[in-house]
Amino acid sequence: MSQADYADLTSHDAFLNGVPHDTFEALRRDDPISWWDEEDGRGFWSITRYQDIFNLNKDYKTFSSAHGVRMEDMTEEETEARRSLLEMDPPEHTRLRALIGRSFGPKVVATYEDAIRGIAVELLDHAASHDEFDFVQTIARPLPMRMAGRLLGVPDEDGQMLVELGDMMIANTDPDFTDHVVDQVDTEEYRMLPFRSPAALKVFEYAEETARIRREHPTDDLINLLLSPDRDGEVLTDMEFKNFMVLMVSAGNDTTRYTMTYAMKELIDRPDLLDELRHLDDAGWKMAVEEFLRWASVTMHFRRTAMRDYDIHGKTIKQGDKIVLWFVSGNRDADKFESPFDLNVHRDPNPHMTFGKGGPHACLGMWLARMEVKVLLQEFVKRAATVEQTEPHAYLRSNFISGIKRLPVSVEWR
Ligand code: HEM
Repeated sequence: MSQADYADLTSHDAFLNGVPHDTFEALRRDDPISWWDEEDGRGFWSITRYQDIFNLNKDYKTFSSAHGVRMEDMTEEETEARRSLLEMDPPEHTRLRALIGRSFGPKVVATYEDAIRGIAVELLDHAASHDEFDFVQTIARPLPMRMAGRLLGVPDEDGQMLVELGDMMIANTDPDFTDHVVDQVDTEEYRMLPFRSPAALKVFEYAEETARIRREHPTDDLINLLLSPDRDGEVLTDMEFKNFMVLMVSAGNDTTRYTMTYAMKELIDRPDLLDELRHLDDAGWKMAVEEFLRWASVTMHFRRTAMRDYDIHGKTIKQGDKIVLWFVSGNRDADKFESPFDLNVHRDPNPHMTFGKGGPHACLGMWLARMEVKVLLQEFVKRAATVEQTEPHAYLRSNFISGIKRLPVSVEWR
């Protein structure tokens, strides 16, 4: 088999009808370490089996993040200018992660539950005055956005503006979200910015201004915690802080939004599910959320670069080669998950790799994302008697983020 026999994983268009799962299934079976030529890049290895993804992700000394984590080629100069927590290896990564991680652990996130529930209830009450609405625009998009605003301690309008900027960056391959579609228009002038996007400049400016104000007038929120020294006197540099703001408004919003939307699509397609969820206890909710996360697998891949030659399944990955870890494929690997194409809200155990399992970069926001998905679904199933789709849904144009960007629904409220 050659590249031409599969859906073109290098093309964003290949994901316009959803994830090409048949291609991933064939690759897992026939060519789990497959080479992909790129039109505008130096090519990469696609890793598609669960165990291989896990092993390579864990081996950060061989498979580095410091040379970029997106599929695209970047010069060292560009990578340097755009470096965030994601594009670092231990030990630099360990220091920064500890500084930022203070605000994202499960215990801290548990204290956000009431605030999340408050926002979810408000959005659902608003939706309840309409019988038909777009689930994404009315509920799934505003919820994480407003929560991020609260965490950052910024007014709701600023939170909204920041998330719009976040969308422009992370959905930089979809013309619905940005005028600067990276593979369609010339973005050379922005190559030193995260996502080659002018939106990043605006977030940088906002971060600078916020840091200035907070240093003069400290408040009791995440930004302040980030700006203050830890027990060892360590503090974030201005650039680290600015790049973190970019991460906060990009990584933390659309991912949670699209996980909720995939869950809603399942509630539409499987009418029995509403009632099944309604009867879950706490442990049941925990399992259900993990399964929705596996199912959605919103960040489809992250990239690494080989630091030395590496032999695997009869292939040699050469030093300097790009490796793409397809978490979305690992999550459907039948060697790891029984009936992986069935959504089973009681699946246990569920060692999904949606958050980058095994590696030092495993998602910092995982507890927040879990909490937001759980609370929203809990409040929704309490209120909805039935939910139906009224018009076709639409997928995001991206081979990086898997998302349903429009989901028109009609709800009969209880
Ligand atoms: C369902 C929602 C989410 C998914 C699927 C997701 C997925 C991921 C994945 C796969 C990684 C690992 C990247 C790698 O291996 O290179 C990651 C890292 C990260 N995520 Fe998330 N994420 C989600 C929500 C969030 C939220 C809500 C936040 C913050 C509020 C967040 C912040 C981060 C940060 C800061 C990192 C970098 C960690 C590091 O480099 O050490 N994420 N995420």
